[in-house]
Amino acid sequence: MKTFYITTPIYYVNDSPHIGHAYTDIAADFVARFKRLDGYDVKFLTGTDEHGQKIQRAAEKAGVSTIDFVSEVSKRFVALTPLLNLSNDDFIRTTETRHKKAAQHLWSLLTEKGHIYKGKYCGWYSVRDEAYFDEKELINGKAPTGSDVEWLEEESYFFNLSIWQDKLLAFYKDNPTFAQPSSRLNEIIKFVERGLEDLSISRSSFKWGIEVPGDDKHVMYVWFDALTNYISAIGYPGDISQYWPADVHMVGKDISRFHAIYWPAMLMAADIALPKQIIAHGWWTIDGEKMSKSIGNVVSSQQLVDELGCDQTRYCLLREIAFGNDGNFSKSAMIIRINAELANNIGNLVQRTLSMIFKNCEGLMPKVSTDEIYNQKLLNVALDTINQVRLTINNTQYQNSLEAIVNLSNHANLYIDEMAPWALAKTDRPKMEFVLTSLAEVIRYIGILLQPITPIAAKKLLDMLSVERRDFAALSKEYMIKSGTIIAKPEIIFPRAEI
Ligand code: MSP
Repeated sequence: MKTFYITTPIYYVNDSPHIGHAYTDIAADFVARFKRLDGYDVKFLTGTDEHGQKIQRAAEKAGVSTIDFVSEVSKRFVALTPLLNLSNDDFIRTTETRHKKAAQHLWSLLTEKGHIYKGKYCGWYSVRDEAYFDEKELINGKAPTGSDVEWLEEESYFFNLSIWQDKLLAFYKDNPTFAQPSSRLNEIIKFVERGLEDLSISRSSFKWGIEVPGDDKHVMYVWFDALTNYISAIGYPGDISQYWPADVHMVGKDISRFHAIYWPAMLMAADIALPKQIIAHGWWTIDGEKMSKSIGNVVSSQQLVDELGCDQTRYCLLREIAFGNDGNFSKSAMIIRINAELANNIGNLVQRTLSMIFKNCEGLMPKVSTDEIYNQKLLNVALDTINQVRLTINNTQYQNSLEAIVNLSNHANLYIDEMAPWALAKTDRPKMEFVLTSLAEVIRYIGILLQPITPIAAKKLLDMLSVERRDFAALSKEYMIKSGTIIAKPEIIFPRAEI
């Protein structure tokens, strides 16, 4: 079986999750669920990033021990799995022994291979970003992200990042789709072309981190530790060949540098294969400003799910903005979207068709007596939709994947209006049965295709149609709903959202 390994970033546990985090989770979950239905053995990983100075300071501020603090906040991220209906197979915490062992093993390996050395670090550090910045990168004395920076001078271990510059550039050239969207890869290439400096990868001014093997004065720089999660979760330093190299690391654009430069260089140095793709999304903003816990302008995932519903939240987050771009958060735009596409378009199609079958055909799929079993033109659109969804997913155009499903529903709605089966019920019963069969079959396709994005409604819909086989291999004539199949009394799958 083909495998597919997809990851989200591991989230800092300095505060509660907001929809910026939900966004990465939902996008990765959408792809993971899609690939499972498309016949892959999928591994979907998420987790929490629990070390570093930022976390230590947050715990101090909260007045609790650091380990109690991270365990408590990590639970809020674990709770996203049921809240957002995520299908992750694992949840890694960087304070777990399996992770610490893996990070220490990687460190020792790089030391043995001569890629780590001891030196002295002097430079600008932003605790909020847990990142180092060059003097030339600062804007008005602040990090390019707007965060405060502090001058650091300390003994540190270094990773010889600079020697990987040419190899990285050659790798990007050979793998032009390595980072998506391509504009991101261009930024990365420009950054690497300007020259890379060796990376300080240990800290001795605080203790909250993974101990550097053989030197208890130092803890690992949190990004060295964090990036390793992608292999520690699948059993590194044991055999990771079942899922590695990862197919996709889904990340926000602010952390693409760590994933597209540091991580590949670390892996090259360790002689481990590189991930196949880094997909970077844009930011949810409020009045043009990045939604962020440090700024305090956040919408919590819980709040949005309570107001819109889980399926609807998932749908809107992926449907509202083109993946890769920033988007301003607007709840009213989401409500309009839910009503137009989910309630009026797909919901009505289902309601109209199934209630007619329920009332006029005794709740059983009719037996069509004409030569054709269903309207071929309409069914061709249904058959082609999976190709469009697959293509757009592979091109990271998730917004368009959802649009393709709505489009199919549009076609079916036009057909129902044109054929007016409610009138045929009185004048031409065989034709009515033909029309309803065609529509029910299209609805079966819609139900199967909706599973990755609105899993709860899709299940309800497929249950109403008594559909047994639900993976994408069932998107063919062979699995059409048989006449005589019980069609349940329709329940509303997508209620209207209230302003
Ligand atoms: N701990 C690191 C990641 C380590 S991965 C080895 C980290 N954590 S974070 O909690 O600060 O951010 C996690 C993810 O949430 C990032 O991908 C980030 O882009 C995303 N988002 C945080 N705020 C966001 C928005 N306002 N909008 C969209 N995504 C944003 O970075």
